[in-house]
Amino acid sequence: MTFRDAWQQALYGADGFYRRQRPSEHFRTSVHASPLFGQAIARLAHLLELSTVADIGAGRGELGKVLRAEGLSVVDIELDDELPDRLTGLVIANEWLDNIPCEVVEWDDDGVPHYLSADLTSGHVVEGNDLDWLRQWWPGEPGDRAEVGITRDTAWQDVVRRLTDGSVAIAIDYGHVRDSRPPYGALTGFRNGRECDPTPDGTCDITAHVALDSLGGTILSQRDALKALGVSATRPPLDLAQTEPMRYLSELSSAGEAAELLESTGLGGFGWVWTARGADTVRRASRALSA
Ligand SMILES: C[S@@+](CC[C@H](N)C(=O)[O-])C[C@H]1O[C@@H](n2cnc3c(N)ncnc32)[C@H](O)[C@@H]1O
Repeated sequence: MTFRDAWQQALYGADGFYRRQRPSEHFRTSVHASPLFGQAIARLAHLLELSTVADIGAGRGELGKVLRAEGLSVVDIELDDELPDRLTGLVIANEWLDNIPCEVVEWDDDGVPHYLSADLTSGHVVEGNDLDWLRQWWPGEPGDRAEVGITRDTAWQDVVRRLTDGSVAIAIDYGHVRDSRPPYGALTGFRNGRECDPTPDGTCDITAHVALDSLGGTILSQRDALKALGVSATRPPLDLAQTEPMRYLSELSSAGEAAELLESTGLGGFGWVWTARGADTVRRASRALSA
C-alpha cells in the first residue's frame, strides 16, 4: 500500500479522521480565525455581481454562516455530496486541496524517485503520469522528497470544468510554486491543534502544501487578495478610546484579526488561485483582486 492509499483510508475511510472529528478542534483556518475572511469573500461576490457561493470542503459550514449573513445564498459541499454538474456563482475551496491525498515520493542515491509506503519506507519506482508530473513540476535530487500534485490538479480541474459562464472559482491554500518547493516535501499531521507526525491511523489530520502553479489559474497571495478586498490591520486612533471606548475596542479587535489573516508568514502567505469564465468576468475578477 502506498502512502497515498493509507492517507486516503486514514482521513476518509469508514472510521477515518474526517468521518469522526470536528476540524476546528485540530487546526485553525482563516474561516475560524475571523469573520472578516468571509466578509471579504462576500465583498468579492458582490463586486462580481454573483449571488451564490459554493463552498467546497465546507467543514462544519462556518464560512457559509458568515456569507448568508451578508445576503448570499450558499451551497455547502462536503464529503458525501456530489459536485453539481454545473457550478454557478463564486466557488470557494478553502483548505480543501491540501487534504486531498497524494503520492509521496523520495529520490534514491542515483536520483531515481520511489513511492513511499504507508510506513514511509521506499517502495516501487515512480512511473507514468506521476513521473511526468514530477519532471514538469517538481524535479528532485538524491535524498529529496516530494508530494505528487496530480490528485489535487485533477480535483481542481474537475471543479473548473463545471463552471458556467460568468462564474469564478478560487482555491485558497498553503502551497508552493516550482522555484520554491520544499526540498523534503511538506507532508505533516495535526492533532489537537499541534503539528504531529503524519501517522495514517485516523487519529490526526494529514496534509501537505499544494503545488499551486500546477493547478492552473492566476495566483496571488491571501495578503494581497484580502487587502484588495478592503481588509486592513490599521489600528483605530488612540483618541477614539476616550470618545467612543466600545467602538475603539471593537475596531482594535478587528485590526488584530485582520493582522492574523494578512500575516505574510502565516495565513496571509496562503495562495489564492482563481479562474473565471467569460471575458467580462475575468476583467471584473482581475480588478477586484488587484491592489
Ligand atoms: C481542512 S478542512 C477545511 C474546512 C473549511 N473549508 C475551513 O476552511 O475551515 C477540509 C475539508 O474538506 C473536506 N473534503 C475532503 N475531501 C472532500 C471531497 N472530495 N468533497 C468535499 N469535501 C471534501 C473534508 O471533509 C474537510 O471538512
